[in-house]
Amino acid sequence: MITSIPLVLGIETSCDETAVGIVAGRKLLANVISSSVEEHAKFGGVVPEIASRAHLEAMQGVIRAALSEAKVSINDIDAFAVTAGPGLIGALLVGTSSAAGLALGLDKPLYGVNHLSAHIAVDSLDSDHKLDPAIALLVSGGHSSILQVNELTSDVITLGSTIDDAAGEAFDKIARILELGFPGGPAIDLDARSGNREAVDFPRGLTLAKDLIDHRYDFSFSGLKTAVSRYLAKTPGYIRADISASFQEAVVDVLLTKAIGAAKEVGIEVLIIAGGVAANSRLRESAEERCEKAGIRLRIPPMNLCTDNGAMVAALGSLALTNGLAPSEIGLTADSASGVARAIF
Ligand code: KG4
Ligand code: ZN
Repeated sequence: MITSIPLVLGIETSCDETAVGIVAGRKLLANVISSSVEEHAKFGGVVPEIASRAHLEAMQGVIRAALSEAKVSINDIDAFAVTAGPGLIGALLVGTSSAAGLALGLDKPLYGVNHLSAHIAVDSLDSDHKLDPAIALLVSGGHSSILQVNELTSDVITLGSTIDDAAGEAFDKIARILELGFPGGPAIDLDARSGNREAVDFPRGLTLAKDLIDHRYDFSFSGLKTAVSRYLAKTPGYIRADISASFQEAVVDVLLTKAIGAAKEVGIEVLIIAGGVAANSRLRESAEERCEKAGIRLRIPPMNLCTDNGAMVAALGSLALTNGLAPSEIGLTADSASGVARAIF
């Protein structure tokens, strides 16, 4: 029985970051990340087998570094949390096996957590505000959704999702076309700073009146990708920074129009923006302006907690523990395609 503020260690290995976070209740004590991104860059995307091996090699060191940063011993940890899905199956299994081994060896509860819910759980850290109810705009490399978060560990409704590419994936694909390297999000963000976001009026997917009937809160970015490619093909002397800025503006505009629209229409006046794309500087700036105008309270995690990290996993584990949720089975496996409806496995 845990009576004082629980210490939770969270492990994240769903993609190319081997990450461990430690929290005491809602207080962040450590956040250590080892990334294999450079090993993937030459392939233009994450190679699953390379990612799994890199997790195995990095795991022990990252756990030790996190314990040392938090100034606690492994024996002090009250519960272990680990991303159990969605993500790359081999990569996830390194995390779930490591966490299960620790939980079994130390006789502590294990929480298999949903990566998408964990991105939102970051909002609970280092503050005692009530996280939910909120509308969440979850934008990462694999997912783009608008969620109605009534209670994060038990009641999340998906209002809309992308019907093709995720927002981060669109950034990565356009960056490849513009030869800006991988991962594309940060590269476009940087390039766009010296560009004119009004240079080209790229299409905003699924925003026409006829689209809104069936796809009110859904996204589509594949038409935008085609429009950028076509524009580049017919405009030999284009200015790259203008393309980056105009493309970024089209993505940001459609994300915010739909997310703020959902908050207004559902009647929940808090918008949380989470996931890797929430690190985008133009999205952060525009969200602030537009939410203020719309009377919506905006919450976005600090930049380093937007992209994948272990603190988010520990944060969700800690919420599950505090809310009295039953721990996962020690034989917990990974679910590469899980949706957001289930916060704890
Ligand atoms: O959440 P995340 O770290 O991993 C997944 O769960 O997918 O998100 C990674 C995605 C990548 O597609 C990356 O290009 C994008 O987030 N990203 C950004 C920025 N930083 C990361 N996109 C736009 N602007 C950024 N500054
Ligand atoms: Zn993520």
